[in-house]
Amino acid sequence: MKIVLAESYGFCFGVKRAIKIAEENKNSATYGPLIHNANEIDRLKNDFNVALSENLDSFKASDTAVIRTHGIPKQELSLLHERQVNVVDATCPYVTKPQQICEDMNSQGYDIVIFGDEAHPEIKGVKSYAADHVYVVNSPDEIDALKLREKVATVAQTTRKLEEYQQIIIKLMSKHKEVRIFNTICNATFDNQDAVRELAQKADVMIIIGGKNSSNTKQLYSISKEYCLDSYHIESKDDLQTNWFDHKEYCGVSAGASTPDWIIDEVIQSIRTLNNS
Ligand code: F3S
Repeated sequence: MKIVLAESYGFCFGVKRAIKIAEENKNSATYGPLIHNANEIDRLKNDFNVALSENLDSFKASDTAVIRTHGIPKQELSLLHERQVNVVDATCPYVTKPQQICEDMNSQGYDIVIFGDEAHPEIKGVKSYAADHVYVVNSPDEIDALKLREKVATVAQTTRKLEEYQQIIIKLMSKHKEVRIFNTICNATFDNQDAVRELAQKADVMIIIGGKNSSNTKQLYSISKEYCLDSYHIESKDDLQTNWFDHKEYCGVSAGASTPDWIIDEVIQSIRTLNNS
């Protein structure tokens, strides 16, 4: 039986990069979680002595702080530098970009409208890069309540849907003559979905790996099931059943955004063993 991994699966580029950075910085601590996956956080702690701290004050001079993928507020970054903490920045470049845009446009006299969730760490960080006149909105209607000046620049949270951002843009353009639009949406989640859609059309059995509560894994599974009836959502190799692979010739594999590569490797190894037994 042929076993084929989806073209895009599992961790996004930003999380993979952050984990590599953490592994290269043994005996450090990440400031905030790099990923919402307890197994992976434990692995970094056990194999690389990379701890997790949610408390800025826990970092002292000459400690190494790895900055999480979502980034942190500018003021916190300055504080770490002031305290002579060795800062290793693992902020995803797709998050650094809107931070820079906010800073640049704001310093050029633009009001900043951020489309996103004010409570989300990414948005707290992005917002902090504008000195003033910066607003976070979750819907076009919220724009009516803002007292914006003439020149406006807008960015979106990386995980927002393009169609929703377009509504924000339309609203801003209906009220302002000068609107600078930056498309800061990241396509990582959509890439995994597109890849499953493509693979499930060729496969006669599909294995989707990820937490039972992971909404993006469930989403992948439901897309897979649309094209391949024999699709299974598992958490680890222990959930595999031999009869799933009887008389099958093409097995497709994908994984949700918080599934580490080592869990995926274990599953593929087990499928090979089951298939050869
Ligand atoms: Fe991942 Fe960076 Fe996009 S962390 S979801 S590649 S913004």
